[in-house]
Amino acid sequence: MKNKKHAIYLKTSFASTIFFAIFCLTLIANQANAQATKSKPWNPPASAIELKNPFAGDANAIKEGKKLYVTYCTPCHGNSGKGDGIAAASLNPKPADHTSDAVQSETDGAAYWKLTEGRGPMISYKQLLTDNQRWQLVTYIKTLGKKK
Ligand code: HEC
Repeated sequence: MKNKKHAIYLKTSFASTIFFAIFCLTLIANQANAQATKSKPWNPPASAIELKNPFAGDANAIKEGKKLYVTYCTPCHGNSGKGDGIAAASLNPKPADHTSDAVQSETDGAAYWKLTEGRGPMISYKQLLTDNQRWQLVTYIKTLGKKK
């Protein structure tokens, strides 16, 4: 008799633990969804916006930047930088379109800061790439608008 009571108690507490776990997961999933669908503005600090690109317009930097871009960035940003890489479909928010006016009109410093810091699926490249490599990438990205 005592054992049976114990068993029922165990079953109930097990069931409520499962329900509670599912409840929590639903909350987390909702939260993640809400964050993902809201495309929040991504504003670099003024000090980053003012940073000068040491390679601006440099032909060799564009060449090196393109090599890095093909290796690291095209899976998401696509071959032409339009944000249509093979991994793009599964991402939220979508990878930025580097040919867009929004990206082309921001300062080199702003783009450099974003790719250094990262946000969401766009990881931080601070550790993966050197300063020079990140500036070379920005120099290359700034040539993509003209190809439209
Ligand atoms: C895993 C997919 C992925 C990879 C790989 C990736 N990005 Fe991104 N990138 C994103 C996403 C997603 C965003 C939009 C992030 C947001 O708005 O929160 C983004 C945004 C950016 C932006 C900001 C655009 C803007 O000006 O608002 C820059 C710059 C950028 N990426 C550069 C790069 C570079 C350079 C590489 C390669 C070194 C790279 N990304 C690799 C997914 C990726």
